[in-house]
Amino acid sequence: MNANNDVLLEVEGLRKYFPIQKGLMRRTIGNIKAVDDVNLRVQRGEVLGVVGESGCGKTTLGRCLVRVYEPTGGQVILHTDGRELSVTELNSEQMRLFRRSVQMIFQDPFASLNPRMNVLETVGEPLKVNGLASGRDLEDRVAKVIQQVGLRVEHLRRYPHSFSGGQRQRIGIARACRRARIDRRR
Ligand SMILES: Nc1ncnc2c1ncn2[C@@H]1O[C@H](COP(=O)(O)OP(=O)(O)OP(=O)(O)O)[C@@H](O)[C@H]1O
Ligand SMILES: [Mg+2]
Repeated sequence: MNANNDVLLEVEGLRKYFPIQKGLMRRTIGNIKAVDDVNLRVQRGEVLGVVGESGCGKTTLGRCLVRVYEPTGGQVILHTDGRELSVTELNSEQMRLFRRSVQMIFQDPFASLNPRMNVLETVGEPLKVNGLASGRDLEDRVAKVIQQVGLRVEHLRRYPHSFSGGQRQRIGIARACRRARIDRRR
């Protein structure tokens, strides 16, 4: 789509419609056009804010971009690791690469952190699930990334309830940190 190396994300004509259903047979009588023809481009290192009235489709747009929702139409292209991924048409190998590259940081860290998982388990889970680290290596990487977000190694075995709101938000940022997943020291 675009030869510019600085482009990270391109969105063209993105649409997400939800069916409006009625009656016992749940007949579709129309669509809610939650996202209708969104076009945008994000450069590497750029931060994009989406602003608008309640119900205008901000969350739905975000969910389409991270493939929580299957878009109704349009194109999403992610440029990562020297490759161009069509986010709407990922095969299983590309989906793995995509999941390593794109992570969500949730607005409410209390609701999005599992109270039964300590920092090591929470931040280490994506590394484990992606088969990127285990054992001592996993702990070293988690220790490194939590220090990058301003937490300390002695926090590794503490649970979410014992952190301040700001510290909890940092745990969420550390969990989403791509650096931990690509910093392979082998
Ligand atoms: N899963 C769904 N099924 C049906 N309709 C939905 C669904 N999710 C969202 N909608 C509808 O799509 C529209 C956009 O919702 P969305 O949650 O994206 O808005 P928003 O901009 O994030 O709003 P807010 O600022 O209130 O969070 C709304 O009309 C909403 O009712
Ligand atoms: Mg929202």
